[in-house]
Amino acid sequence: MPVILSVRGMRDLLPEDTAHWQAVETTAAACFARYGYAEIRTPMVERTALFCRQLGEHTDVVQKEMYSFIDAGGEELSLRPEATVPTVRALVENGLRRGGLERVWYGGPMFRRERPQKGRYRQFWQLGAEAVGVADPVIDAEQIIMLAQLWNDMGVQDKLCLVVNNLGTADERAHHREKLRTHFRHHESQLDDAARARIDGNPLRILDSKNKSVQEVVNTAPLLANELGTASQQHVASVKNMITGAGIDFVEDTTLVRGLDYYNLTVFEWVLKDDSRRQSTLCGGGRYDGLSEQIGGPALPGCGFALGLDRLAALVDKASHPAPTCYLVTTGGSDSYCTTVAEQLRKNGLSVWRHVGGGNLARQLKKADAMNTALAVIVGTDEESAGEVTLKRLCDGEQQQVLTSRVAETAAMMMIQTG
Ligand code: HAM
Repeated sequence: MPVILSVRGMRDLLPEDTAHWQAVETTAAACFARYGYAEIRTPMVERTALFCRQLGEHTDVVQKEMYSFIDAGGEELSLRPEATVPTVRALVENGLRRGGLERVWYGGPMFRRERPQKGRYRQFWQLGAEAVGVADPVIDAEQIIMLAQLWNDMGVQDKLCLVVNNLGTADERAHHREKLRTHFRHHESQLDDAARARIDGNPLRILDSKNKSVQEVVNTAPLLANELGTASQQHVASVKNMITGAGIDFVEDTTLVRGLDYYNLTVFEWVLKDDSRRQSTLCGGGRYDGLSEQIGGPALPGCGFALGLDRLAALVDKASHPAPTCYLVTTGGSDSYCTTVAEQLRKNGLSVWRHVGGGNLARQLKKADAMNTALAVIVGTDEESAGEVTLKRLCDGEQQQVLTSRVAETAAMMMIQTG
């Protein structure tokens, strides 16, 4: 029988990976909490309609990457490809609770049917944060500063660089799109079929065409920056002032548009300086002031970001895997006696791995050594009949025979003695 393997683009996290990821998640959660963000958990499945318009009918995510299905009740559902729209839905549905500004963070798997490669998966994990209810640029700046702090906490600050752009308002972008359409129609003969097909739908996507002759037309295309009004310019200028004041370097890039349609004003990405890695964007986000109304909610401006946990975990140095404190070996002790001893130790906060699979004492102790355990807990028939166990410190061979009632206390003492 051939082995049934995992689904392409979806991978297992083995225990060492999980321990490493949990350490990264814990650091991030602590950082977010310092800025007043509380965790929200939304379902992994949502109505397909929730995503289509909000992410953009012409985006790759909606056009070809969603895992959508009709469930037995006839509802059109999708695995979430991202969590900003679900989070805003949840806040609208449940009402804002925290004085009109809700700061929330989330973590969990997202699903996009992309072409898998290193750093790009079909099930990938994001950690993200959203601040919903306030249009003040202080929020945008605070999130960027929080991320800079997070990179410091993770020790990856030197590997990343911040890119910022201003996407203006929906009206300013609509003006710009019209001007782009006029420009591309005027030069239609120089465009390839793919670009021509995008003029009506989403002319912005022509901007990242790799075709040389299309690029020439793109080079002379009207810029969004020239369509931005004073209010838009002031908003992003004030964000830039605040992050500069916090000592954060950034570059401005007018080609940064992000892959989803709900953004306006501030958008930003943290990218790897070493761009030899193919998937170089670690984190992306920005403001989405019209999103709540698009899903039928009240006018609730918002700003947020998400980082790829698969990519962040690969960037952060792995701490060594914690070893269990005690390894329980037996030379004839009964199962129930061994269980009592192990539980006694665990109740006192020590971690215990029980040897399974037999073998003589030397073989079992070798295993304990290989696990990097501090103490071997030896249970033989003599120990059992005396209501005792032998504790053996593996680094220097020091050993003591103690009553089970004193095993936890003695084990702790023996560990302190070696530091
Ligand atoms: P996004 O740029 O689509 O934004 O994704 C954010 C991050 O998720 C990316 O920078 C990347 O690190 C990671 N990511 C995306 N796709 C994959 C993949 N296939 N495999 C591995 N990692 C991936 C959003 O999702 C927005 N919701 C961010 C946001 C929050 N904007 C405002 N609030």
